[in-house]
Amino acid sequence: MTKPPLTLYLAAPRGFCAGVDRAIKIVEMALEKWGAPVYVRHEIVHNKFVVDALRDKGAVFVEELDECPDDRPVIFSAHGVPKAVPATAAQREMVYVDATCPLVSKVHIEAQRHADNGLQMIMIGHKGHPETVGTMGQLPEGEVLLVETVADVATVEVRDPSRLAFVTQTTLSVDDTADIVAALHARFPGIVGPHKEDICYATTNRQEAVKAMAPKCDAMLVVGAPNSSNSKRLVEVGARAGCNYAQLVQRATDIDWRALEGITSMGITAGASAPEVLIAEVIDAFKDRYDTTVEMVVTAEENVEFKVPRVLREPA
Ligand code: F3S
Repeated sequence: MTKPPLTLYLAAPRGFCAGVDRAIKIVEMALEKWGAPVYVRHEIVHNKFVVDALRDKGAVFVEELDECPDDRPVIFSAHGVPKAVPATAAQREMVYVDATCPLVSKVHIEAQRHADNGLQMIMIGHKGHPETVGTMGQLPEGEVLLVETVADVATVEVRDPSRLAFVTQTTLSVDDTADIVAALHARFPGIVGPHKEDICYATTNRQEAVKAMAPKCDAMLVVGAPNSSNSKRLVEVGARAGCNYAQLVQRATDIDWRALEGITSMGITAGASAPEVLIAEVIDAFKDRYDTTVEMVVTAEENVEFKVPRVLREPA
């Protein structure tokens, strides 16, 4: 049977970012250095495939520090943790390694600096996301106000409108965040913040590539996990940029082939925590069913790399 023709657009950049790459390396190197088990507080990155592979090597994933014994190393996930977490680990004299992405740590430092200057902090982020919990947890409880939408900006109650600063989650939608930042500046003209927001290079680049790719595609798939903030944003960005069908899939078995009937062009990208092997699996699934021509949609080159913490570079 002849296969129908399909142009498969591949977004670049897509998939792993430098922070995810470093976090996974940290767990692997910790296992090599200290042997199994090594505890990891929260999914090291939001991807089941990655977590399962590390679990097979001896990592034990827990949600809270009190689930870890004192005498085994513990790693904090790429999303960052409230200050109380390393403080408790130190008190318990645990060996711990912080895999917080350096770009998230930078936001933590900003928040602390503004608070030290006497400014009240507003965070733009998603309630309950571990990165938001970690960043808000850099300051005492109740000190950081959370806004998720433009509507929240209208109702947020501040101590002194002239003494405010804001930070953002790193994996937000660039366009939505621009609207929220504009609303903050309109309501609080003196508010201090980053030049635009704290959205990281990887989030920005993946959204840009999707914007360039989406208008060419009958349908688009984002390889990523349902709890991955930046992956979910890529689906929204694709739909808004003119792609009628944009869906999140964890792997090839999630593809709804019936919904894709009749397409002649397809776009594929992946969130920052999705490994290339899963993207290859999805591409192969299309190659099995279609006579596929692959075209890259390249909007940026990335060469960012973060070093692992010194404790892992030193001999045991
Ligand atoms: Fe860091 Fe951005 Fe990746 S904050 S973990 S480089 S998505």
